[in-house]
Amino acid sequence: MHTKIATSILSADFSCLKEQVKEAEKAGADLIHIDVMDGHFVPNITIGPAVVKSVKKITDLPLDVHLMIEHPEFYIDDFVSAGADWISVHLEACPHLHRTVHLVKSKPNVKVGVAVNPATALTNLVNVVDLLDFVLIMSVNPGFGGQEFITQSIGKIKFLKQMLKEKSSKAFIEVDGGITADNAKQVALAGADVLVAGNSVFGQENIGEALQKILKSLG
Ligand code: DX5
Ligand code: ZN
Repeated sequence: MHTKIATSILSADFSCLKEQVKEAEKAGADLIHIDVMDGHFVPNITIGPAVVKSVKKITDLPLDVHLMIEHPEFYIDDFVSAGADWISVHLEACPHLHRTVHLVKSKPNVKVGVAVNPATALTNLVNVVDLLDFVLIMSVNPGFGGQEFITQSIGKIKFLKQMLKEKSSKAFIEVDGGITADNAKQVALAGADVLVAGNSVFGQENIGEALQKILKSLG
């Protein structure tokens, strides 16, 4: 599969979200990444199911909903009803991760992922990885857009790739945080299947051109 780009609306101008999402879609975005933050798990508050429902109406692209919240299990039904196609929960927010993963898996046509913070070891995933459609490696500390890519993430992506191979897992690898046209290729070569891009697309004056630049860098 070619490297996919999930454009994160966290850096979009919400007063014209429809136009901006359409622009990203037209320029070649594969997914729309929606960052849900609760002010507890991460020090920022963002989007809830109401916005997911509105975005669902304006695009046919799959909605990739990244839950940076405590007790994600309380909100899975709401996000699925709102139109989430992919849902990731954070390993650090789920003491009963196996149960939460199964809850998401019980929803028809929804892909389940587990997100892992920069300081969290991937070995903590070993007992659930067989169940997953994807693993999301955070390459910044979650909470804000526009942060710098943590270079140690490259080693982590390679480690995960190997771990998935050993487990004969078909799960794909999503990498989130600090992706730009300058590092996208390197991240993809390390093993990423999906790159999240927020500030480097929606934070730029010309959204379409900015996304094209990343796509071109991937070759
Ligand atoms: C960070 C979010 C990211 C963010 C990425 O907490 O999970 O999805 O939008 O934004 P950039 O690409 O600006 O680092
Ligand atoms: Zn995200």
